[in-house]
Amino acid sequence: MSRTLPLLVPPLLFLLLSALTSACQRDWDALLLRQHLHRSDSHNSLRKRAPVPYPPALTPTESLLINSFDNTSLSTWSYYYTSGDHLGSHNKSQAEWTAQKWRNAGFDDARLVEIPIYVTYPRHSNLTLRRKDGGKHEARLVEDVLGEDSTSGYPNVIPAFHAMSGSGDVEGEYVYVGRGTRADFQVLKDAGIELKGKVAMANYGGIYRGTKVKNAQDTGMAGCILFTDPLDDGEVTVENGYAAYPDGPARNPSSIQRGSVRFSSLYSGDPTTVGWASAPDSPRGNVSLYNPSIPSIPLSMKDALPLLAALQGHGVTAKEANRSGWTGGFSNISYDSGPTPGTVVHLNHQMDGWIAPVWDVIGIVNGTSEDEVVVVGNHRDAWVIGGAADPNSGSAIMIEMANAFGKLIAKGWKPRRTIIFSSWDAEEFGLQGSTEWVESHLPWLNSVAVAYLNIDVGVSGPRTSFSGSGEIQSFVVEQMKKILFPEGWGDFPTVYDMWYNTTEGEISPLGSGSDYASFYQNGIGCIDIGSDGGRTDPIYHYHSNYDSYHWMTTFGDPGFRIHTAMGQLLSLILYHIADDVLIPWDLPNAATVLESYLTELHATVSESDFPGLDLSELTDAIEEFETQAANIARVAETALGFNDTVLLGVVNSKYRDFSRGYVSAGGLPGRETFKNVISAPGIDNGYGADVFPAVTDGINAGDEESAKAWVGKSARAVLRAAEILRV
Ligand SMILES: *[C@@H]1O[C@H](CO)[C@@H](O)[C@H](O)[C@H]1NC(C)=O
Ligand SMILES: *[C@@H]1O[C@H](CO)[C@@H](O)[C@H](O)[C@H]1NC(C)=O
Ligand SMILES: *[C@@H]1O[C@H](CO)[C@@H](O)[C@H](O)[C@H]1NC(C)=O
Ligand SMILES: *[C@@H]1O[C@H](CO)[C@@H](O)[C@H](O)[C@H]1NC(C)=O
Ligand SMILES: *[C@@H]1O[C@H](CO)[C@@H](O)[C@H](O)[C@H]1NC(C)=O
Ligand SMILES: *[C@@H]1O[C@H](CO)[C@@H](O)[C@H](O)[C@H]1NC(C)=O
Ligand SMILES: *[C@@H]1O[C@H](CO)[C@@H](O)[C@H](O)[C@H]1NC(C)=O
Ligand SMILES: *[C@@H]1O[C@H](CO)[C@@H](O)[C@H](O)[C@H]1NC(C)=O
Ligand SMILES: *[C@@H]1O[C@H](CO)[C@@H](O)[C@H](O)[C@H]1NC(C)=O
Ligand SMILES: [Zn+2]
Repeated sequence: MSRTLPLLVPPLLFLLLSALTSACQRDWDALLLRQHLHRSDSHNSLRKRAPVPYPPALTPTESLLINSFDNTSLSTWSYYYTSGDHLGSHNKSQAEWTAQKWRNAGFDDARLVEIPIYVTYPRHSNLTLRRKDGGKHEARLVEDVLGEDSTSGYPNVIPAFHAMSGSGDVEGEYVYVGRGTRADFQVLKDAGIELKGKVAMANYGGIYRGTKVKNAQDTGMAGCILFTDPLDDGEVTVENGYAAYPDGPARNPSSIQRGSVRFSSLYSGDPTTVGWASAPDSPRGNVSLYNPSIPSIPLSMKDALPLLAALQGHGVTAKEANRSGWTGGFSNISYDSGPTPGTVVHLNHQMDGWIAPVWDVIGIVNGTSEDEVVVVGNHRDAWVIGGAADPNSGSAIMIEMANAFGKLIAKGWKPRRTIIFSSWDAEEFGLQGSTEWVESHLPWLNSVAVAYLNIDVGVSGPRTSFSGSGEIQSFVVEQMKKILFPEGWGDFPTVYDMWYNTTEGEISPLGSGSDYASFYQNGIGCIDIGSDGGRTDPIYHYHSNYDSYHWMTTFGDPGFRIHTAMGQLLSLILYHIADDVLIPWDLPNAATVLESYLTELHATVSESDFPGLDLSELTDAIEEFETQAANIARVAETALGFNDTVLLGVVNSKYRDFSRGYVSAGGLPGRETFKNVISAPGIDNGYGADVFPAVTDGINAGDEESAKAWVGKSARAVLRAAEILRV
């Protein structure tokens, strides 16, 4: 190892080692939903609208990286990835192609890592509606073939299904359950609607899809149908006069949202190896704890319409239900719950599950300091032949970014810190490729990882999105100011201007929507960047056959200029974290973020059954963290000012390690692979994050003792992080 510890300063060394021992032991899926869930009273924000120098001043290396991005190359990489089935475990040749591209760029050792994981695929799937008047409707469980979009007619197109769904052959009445939250089911129970043994029909809005299926299962229902409702589409709908894809930007009515229905707030990765790495000889557990047992299928707007229409005039009316997201966007549908006596669905859905190989691609650029490592990653597998946005906008960007760094390498550059490029497989089933890789490299990652940088849906629209750990936020926002935003989307000269316009400076905590989850939950600082559509932008056909190269070049990002901007941004972020003398963290901002999360927790407590819950231990711990954060920021400035390499080394190790303190070794109650006490996916939400999640879980479960205990444990985790920072 090239960074030797500073023997000249024993007290610092001692502190460093003691800190290390105490610290020992972090579905785009989320983006679309995140917009709808946005809670403006929560989350921290870098609210100040800062002036942006224009044009941005760049160093020669920054210019080299930025100028290396070529929109025509990005288009070529995008076209490649979107012209073949590359569902998890289906396409080894795309992994090999990716590794070859990275080797061509100069990452000599780029190679495949094969991991055996549990996969599921439908053997048979049918849904038939039989009305009591004898009428019948067979749902088409795949999109229409469009002449304009060749991937929609590709041979062996992937059927629309829910990964990790149960199997079953069910015939019976069905009930519309709104968004399928627990409160929605309660409303129906309170109204005396019999739910047991019936089939639930929920729209896709609000919470994570798997939680809807779990709620149906927990209510004793026999099957579940999740459908896309026009309500999710904001302004851009056929009813508002927009033409549907491929003729215009509105949703094609046959578009279907595939997706996993695993219980995502309980685990990540392979459900047969929760908590340990999957290897050929791994012991494997039963998936029934982690996946639904009832059958569930996704449905298009077009096929949902006759089912909803057949419920009219029966059961609870939308007005009586009085639930948010219950009344959808079809103006001629009343959204009555049903059931309609004698009107039934026949759902026959048979899934197979087995162990199959998947292929991560790993490319390493050795740094001069091999005990500081920055990992950047994107998943490669897609739900559909295309996947032009999810995830291959990110994959195309990663190729072009490898080429950009390759130009630096060719000039003899060696980064200060080791860089690892990763192309994950099987993210869509449940973050398998990344989680299993993290689990098999954990002790090493714990000792060397500086940060994990994630890009999933790099581009599904123009609006910049960013979430990430407190210490990394300010730096990322500074890089946004250096990147020009393409013309044609409004008056936004830089990415920063677009980002600020979209978010007003708010930055969400990390939940579990993409491959950062396993890194973050093991105490590694993370960011997740990309860009998506707002209420007035072209509809993105999420997890549908129409997430295609044709859609991307016609509506999403014609000219690949947003791809260019996002790639340039990620490159500068990676370059500086890997090569700056001082890791560019803002610890005082990390303290501010903890305070804002505490404020959010106070609000949760005061609205709960335990308004007297004492948070003072956590308050004190955050105060201590603030003190240590301010101290180390001063020391860092001094070290930089005097170019004191020894002191810089000490500060860098502390910046690398402090967030390991946030990890609770045994995990959060009831979900042991989620370990970060600062944030985790909400149990009942599945996408959006809860802050101080173990305390929140205790409150929501009505368990005051557990909530109390976790105030203490969370406080001690914050103190561990503060202790590591102490200089
Ligand atoms: C894998 O993807 C490539 C490019 O997208 C495609 O040409 C190839 O046919 C796919 N392979 C399989 C087995 O589907
Ligand atoms: C019913 O299922 C079979 C087998 O999966 C499939 O071939 C057929 O197209 C399905 N029918 C409809 C209407 O989807
Ligand atoms: C897994 O557990 C379920 C429920 O306990 C049981 O029905 C099933 O047979 C088990 N499967 C295996 C492969 O052991
Ligand atoms: C509907 O629910 C809201 C709160 O969610 C409540 O304020 C309102 O009174 C309810 N309306 C009716 C008619 O029950
Ligand atoms: C409702 O409107 C849609 C078009 O938006 C139409 O296709 C459908 O037949 C109508 N349904 C009913 C029950 O009137
Ligand atoms: C990077 O470093 C590792 C360990 O020191 C070494 O095994 C590997 O060959 C190096 N890779 C390159 C491309 O130099
Ligand atoms: C974002 O831009 C739009 C259009 O230029 C403008 O109307 C709006 O006020 C801006 N919002 C913010 C928060 O800057
Ligand atoms: C790349 O951008 C240029 C200039 O904006 C544009 O003319 C060209 O069509 C773009 N190339 C592709 C492949 O989209
Ligand atoms: C800082 O010190 C290092 C090692 O002593 C030296 O290589 C480097 O050039 C110095 N940097 C500055 C900005 O003086
Ligand atoms: Zn994705």
